[in-house]
Amino acid sequence: MDAAAPGPFPLRGIRVVVTAGGTREPIDPVRFLGNRSSGKMGNALAAACREAGAAVELITAALPPPAAPEVSVTQVETAAEMQRAVWTGLDRADVLLMAAAVADYRPRRVAAHKLKKSADELTLELVPTVDILESLREHPRRTRVLVVGFAAETDDLLANAADKLRRKGLDLIVLNDVGAPGVGMGSDDNAVTVLDPHGVVLTVQRSPKPEVARRLVGLVVERLARRHAV
Ligand code: CTP
Repeated sequence: MDAAAPGPFPLRGIRVVVTAGGTREPIDPVRFLGNRSSGKMGNALAAACREAGAAVELITAALPPPAAPEVSVTQVETAAEMQRAVWTGLDRADVLLMAAAVADYRPRRVAAHKLKKSADELTLELVPTVDILESLREHPRRTRVLVVGFAAETDDLLANAADKLRRKGLDLIVLNDVGAPGVGMGSDDNAVTVLDPHGVVLTVQRSPKPEVARRLVGLVVERLARRHAV
């Protein structure tokens, strides 16, 4: 991994993979299970990393994909497709910012034809998707990548985020109170608390997502410099 460079482009020479948006798990050719993620936070992170001089790959499930100048955009639909793209991206990345809202379940069967309406009840059988971050423990380059997860929580915020950080083996986790007014999924603003394995390392009060993204990039720069120093 290169050190983060001082000056106006502190991420020059650094390769960052950012994931964004909510995955869509198909039910039939016209329907899917999805979530309210807009992709705005991930897009803002990709732009902020680019601004800081990084080479950025944005793996997005959001539709339409953003106009992201000088960012390489990979469009995916499902959790499984996102996992493949992230694994490939990590073959050459130094940083992963996993802002996507990945579905935890998918329909066991995908109907080949559009399901027809009937008077009967319909039960969808769901099976767990792969946990992309947990799966990265097996990635051959895992220890060379700074891995940042995002935790969307509505209660027991800090405890749940700390637990996720440990469970998923993350370097940092960005906690987002999606139940708070004005900063939930789809909002233009965000407010975050960032934890590392030792506790809270950064708090950003409610601000527009591009500003939150710049603060998070500042923390990434600091962490890369610290890694290089040891
Ligand atoms: N994530 C992932 N693979 C999944 C689900 C989530 O890699 N199948 C990642 C998200 O991109 C995020 C982090 O894990 O960076 C936490 O996501 P979150 O939805 O908050 O946590 P879950 O593990 O899904 O736990 P829960 O839904 O029970 O809160």
